Amino acid sequence: NWNMKNFIEDQVELVRRQVGDRKVLLALSGGVDSSVVAALLLKAIGRQLVCVHVNHGLMRKNESESVVEVFRNQLNANLIYVDATERFLGKLENVADPEEKRKIIGGEFIRVFEEEARKLEGVDFLGQGTIYPDIIESGTKTAKMVKSHHNVGGLPEDLKFELVEPLKQLFKDEVRACGVELGLPANMVYRQPFPGPGLGVRCLGAITRERLEAVRESDAILREEFEKAGLDKKVWQYFTVVPDFKSVGVKNNARCFEYMVILRAINTIDAMSATIELVDYQVLQKITDRILKEVEHVNRVCFDLSPKPPATIEFE
Ligand code: XMP
Repeated sequence: NWNMKNFIEDQVELVRRQVGDRKVLLALSGGVDSSVVAALLLKAIGRQLVCVHVNHGLMRKNESESVVEVFRNQLNANLIYVDATERFLGKLENVADPEEKRKIIGGEFIRVFEEEARKLEGVDFLGQGTIYPDIIESGTKTAKMVKSHHNVGGLPEDLKFELVEPLKQLFKDEVRACGVELGLPANMVYRQPFPGPGLGVRCLGAITRERLEAVRESDAILREEFEKAGLDKKVWQYFTVVPDFKSVGVKNNARCFEYMVILRAINTIDAMSATIELVDYQVLQKITDRILKEVEHVNRVCFDLSPKPPATIEFE
């Protein structure tokens, strides 16, 4: 009979048979799929698994720290942490076009990962968090977007790995259940979707450190308040963006010219269309107050009421 315990035992056995005493490399973003596959491979082969976490400087607040905390400190994983913030932000300087930004982030990600892979010896396998919908929907837009960043298919010819994909029969809710069964923290297993290019596509136009910090801090406040209000379990995806223009305001009796934060909260089934979560005004008020008080260089907060279509979920 099929249950998650048996599934995990079977996959552990299969992975051990496939890998033997050799090593598996895994790009661990901290997203649901890569985290669950990491936990499963860890159970199967322990420190023969080499995880690489690339911090592109566009992660949410404390996100990379928590990947290191959970996998290296709590689960004793063999984890290489690469802080590539300066490298990414340098490449992205003055680049305003959304597609160009995405290409730079995706391309740079593969190069950083490749450099780490070349430093290692005796790695024959590449672990991947491929799940069933990635296979059956490989032609659709969402799947392609996820692919372009997370699967490391863009690696050069001379870096050929055999793939290890123990989750490829599972649907998303089963992947989450598998993560729970493997003992991953709930906030890692039940987190909302987060685009590969991260906060880079929410810091609109050419990224500056000032606005990137405003996106990161306002996003942290939004998530905290949604959790307090119990909305984190109800709403599919919620985040903030900061456009690259300023508006006039008044602070301490003086004119100020500063950025705005836009709040977005949507519900969807397949990410192909989306509706707005009509967030309670009191919650919105609280979030607005906190952002205006706590986030630097911001004097205005707006709420996006646009469904998809015609708007997309992300702004870029
Ligand atoms: P859009 O903005 O096209 O987004 O309505 C649909 C869903 O996909 C997520 N998204 C991405 N996910 N890599 C990802 O892994 C990406 O490059 C990417 N771009 C958008 C978005 O957050 C939403 O859930």
